[in-house]
Amino acid sequence: MTVPKKLHVKTWGCQMNVYDSERMAEAMGAEGYVTTADASEADLILLNTCHIREKAAEKVYSELGRLKPLKTANPDLRIGVAGCVAQAEGAEIMARQPLVDLVVGPQTYHRLPDLVARVRAGEKALDTDMPQEDKFDHLPRARGAARPSAFLTVQEGCDKFCAFCVVPYTRGAEVSRPVARLLDEARVLVDRGVREITLLGQNVNGYHGEGPDGRARSLADLIWALDGIAGLERIRFTTSHPNDMTDDLIAAHGDCAKLMPYLHLPVQSGSDRVLAAMNRKHTSRDYLDVIARLRAARPDLALSGDFIVGFPGETDADFEDTLRLVERVRYAQAYSFKYSARPGTPAAERPDVPADVASERLARLQALLARQQDETQRDMVGRETDVLFEKAGRLPGQLIGKSEYLQAVHVTAPEGLRGQVARVRITGAAPHSLAGELA
Ligand code: SAH
Ligand code: SF4
Ligand code: F3S
Repeated sequence: MTVPKKLHVKTWGCQMNVYDSERMAEAMGAEGYVTTADASEADLILLNTCHIREKAAEKVYSELGRLKPLKTANPDLRIGVAGCVAQAEGAEIMARQPLVDLVVGPQTYHRLPDLVARVRAGEKALDTDMPQEDKFDHLPRARGAARPSAFLTVQEGCDKFCAFCVVPYTRGAEVSRPVARLLDEARVLVDRGVREITLLGQNVNGYHGEGPDGRARSLADLIWALDGIAGLERIRFTTSHPNDMTDDLIAAHGDCAKLMPYLHLPVQSGSDRVLAAMNRKHTSRDYLDVIARLRAARPDLALSGDFIVGFPGETDADFEDTLRLVERVRYAQAYSFKYSARPGTPAAERPDVPADVASERLARLQALLARQQDETQRDMVGRETDVLFEKAGRLPGQLIGKSEYLQAVHVTAPEGLRGQVARVRITGAAPHSLAGELA
């Protein structure tokens, strides 16, 4: 009997990278590789990287430094860099860090088995093409039981070119997968036990995939098509751009029972001056209008957002506008970042806000967002919500699941409920989790 080769994948960045890592593991699984959580026993290590901020991009080099002793101990070990740093820095990575054998971008990892065969034979391999073919058509599909909640990439890339952002360069132009393929993939997931699907795209509400008649379909059309799959109980999608929040998608939040009442809708800033400088192509009023229409369709909608502070040229008054917008929206949850100048983006040429000013603004914004999150959590106490149970809790007899609003909920519940949705009464709240009992 031959011993199977072992693959270790480490993932940074957004959910699309999480999805890609799973697909890379499946692609190598078809070649006989089994995955391992322990890098020291791996024959192949893949780092799936993120280029969004400088800190994220630098992590790959510190990680490679840590892997050096493994390579010394095992000359057969092969190390690959995948994802958005691979796409952005390609050959530079190999030059800077000789222990890298393989570099593969986000649009070509269906070629991974061939690339790995080449590095096994002692070559170096680099593939950062943006090919015409759809990589997903060339990837094998996993079988066997799956976790109750799964990601499904429906759209990739971005044509929006916000002045600070690398995504249009690392992921390429917007491409949507055809409806029929996605329905196929969703049905396979449901047959494997999946009850909740999160549709992924860098600009997911810009989805315009081909329908059965060859004409384009909207994200709302896709959601309604998925709604017809028996056994699929919950649909989510992320990440959206305010300008692509179309009427049919807003209406779906009121009409489609499977579409969960939680929406991640980044705005980045509350200042119209900064929004214009960011090339966001919307004002704060446009954003608030979209939110008002969404809340009219679905009053209990929980909102999440992304913010950047210290964008070049941001004044104290601009920052106060951001705080005011946050006060008006009341976020259930949000992510906020200090602006990071990214090579090749238009904003990188502009003078930075001093680091201490940006840090102070970030602290103030995060305090406000934490307060809102806290209030959202505490408001849940005494209410009932459906929970999809996903895994065992820390205490015996406990399961952890997600509320309709994407909150983690700890409940004493029979193991048989894992993978199922049940009604739960919330009895306690902490900043990042809720406690409840079966209703
Ligand atoms: N497509 C999504 C998000 C892409 S990246 C959207 O349109 O909103 C995720 C988040 O990272 C962004 O929303 C933004 O808040 C943050 N981000 C992107 N580039 C950044 C940069 N150069 N510096 C700091 N934060 C950044
Ligand atoms: Fe980046 Fe803007 Fe595209 Fe989002 S919409 S991925 S922030 S360029
Ligand atoms: Fe990062 Fe690439 Fe996602 S840059 S946020 S991993 S699209």
